[in-house]
Amino acid sequence: MQGILKDFHDFEPEQESFLSAVLNGLRKQQKSIPSKFFYDERGSGLFDQICELDEYYPTRTELQILKDHSADISAVLGSRAHLIEFGSGSSTKIRTLLDAMEQPLSYVPMDISRDHLLIAAKRLAGSFPDLPVIAICADYTSDFPFPNLGGGRKTGFFPGSTIGNFTPREATEFLKKARNLLEGGGMLIGVDLLKDEKILHAAYNDTLGVTADFNLNLLKRCNQELKGGFDISKFEHRAFLNREKSRIEMHLISLCDQIVPLDGERIAFREGETIHTENSYKYSVESFQALAEEAGFSPQAVWTDSASLFSVHYLKS
Ligand SMILES: C[S@@+](CC[C@H](N)C(=O)[O-])C[C@H]1O[C@@H](n2cnc3c(N)ncnc32)[C@H](O)[C@@H]1O
Repeated sequence: MQGILKDFHDFEPEQESFLSAVLNGLRKQQKSIPSKFFYDERGSGLFDQICELDEYYPTRTELQILKDHSADISAVLGSRAHLIEFGSGSSTKIRTLLDAMEQPLSYVPMDISRDHLLIAAKRLAGSFPDLPVIAICADYTSDFPFPNLGGGRKTGFFPGSTIGNFTPREATEFLKKARNLLEGGGMLIGVDLLKDEKILHAAYNDTLGVTADFNLNLLKRCNQELKGGFDISKFEHRAFLNREKSRIEMHLISLCDQIVPLDGERIAFREGETIHTENSYKYSVESFQALAEEAGFSPQAVWTDSASLFSVHYLKS
């Protein structure tokens, strides 16, 4: 059931910023496109499908941690707080928190994928009719005027190990900014843990090819929105563990020498050359807590599953 939003603040990034990010990335020695551009409407839908895959353990493991420890988590978060979700996607995991929390003051989903955000936020407002839902379409790494929510503590929620898409340095910068916003409150954050390479490899190379579709959708988006001329059949998905950097890397590999037109430019690819599209850093509980401390947060509690696949941290700001 669709409900009514209390407010919607639209800071959707300009198309111009997508074009310049893609052109800048494709002019580099190691070609790259920032992973935040995966999420057009189709990309957001594909990500939801990834979350349902047998091989993709993070979503169900994090959800189970939230469910198993909901009483403890709700006690740590306390009552009467505004809940601000960074990269809210389909706003699924927040339901478990909202069911457990005492008198949340409002729910503020924030996402770059505008249409997907609006549908999910209205659906959530329909399920929790007494809860003010204030949606924000924005790039959370950019500067935008955060709306005044009135009195009350602010609690951040950043699930999905999306923090792992930042390099550790970017993650520290992001957390510093988040800490300023959440001053006097805290942040509940999901962080994927380093583990057996086989489990990691399978999670990013599913047998149904949904992750490959998700990765290649970036090129479709360039074709549709940036007058690109990528022949999708001439690129392939590649994901592997970079052990030295403790991260899964996703790339799109060119299957031949080719020239791709893009907004009036001609981009040359050699056979085997890649576009680096995503990092997914894997932490230990201790290494993530050290990073959070560097950003000025004080780690207060951490919950993990029995197989230590995933961790959920509460950080006080
Ligand atoms: C990995 S998904 C996680 C979705 C959901 N939070 C979950 O745990 O299942 C990342 C989400 O963050 C959003 N996102 C990625 N980069 C973003 C950015 N820079 N600003 C705002 N939203 C972003 C995407 O649109 C997507 O919904």
